Amino acid sequence: MAQTRIVLFVLGLGLAGTASAQDDADLATGEQVYNTWCVHCHDDNRPWSGGGTQALEVKYQGELPADLRERTDMSADLITAYVRDGLYRMPPFRLTEIGEEDMRALAAYLTRNNPE
Ligand code: HEC
Repeated sequence: MAQTRIVLFVLGLGLAGTASAQDDADLATGEQVYNTWCVHCHDDNRPWSGGGTQALEVKYQGELPADLRERTDMSADLITAYVRDGLYRMPPFRLTEIGEEDMRALAAYLTRNNPE
């Protein structure tokens, strides 16, 4: 019995270690994807004609952060839907541009500060 517990404990530690290393990798990849495909519109408010930050500033009037990286209310599914479908001046992104793995990492990055 005690042996089983020890095995489960060690297994648990192993899984926890793998999961957090995986999460770190995802977040770094997600940030990279963001900086490649999103940041020129969704930056910290550099004036630009395609400006997502400016559009979201007008939309939310300070009720939510205009910079997507500071949001804590969006789900991964919602982000994925916007990215795949586009929205007004925001273009849709194809699988050949942002593959499924990159999309998952991007959504993980943008939801990293969401409450559980
Ligand atoms: C060409 C500029 C442009 C690019 C590139 C762009 N966006 Fe956008 N995005 C916009 C604009 C403009 C809006 C606001 C649309 C509106 O008026 O509601 C927006 C809105 C959004 C929203 C909706 C937020 C909300 O609360 O309504 C999300 C999520 C989003 N963008 C994510 C992304 C991600 C992730 C990327 C990178 C893969 C990206 N966008 C790339 C211009 C862009």
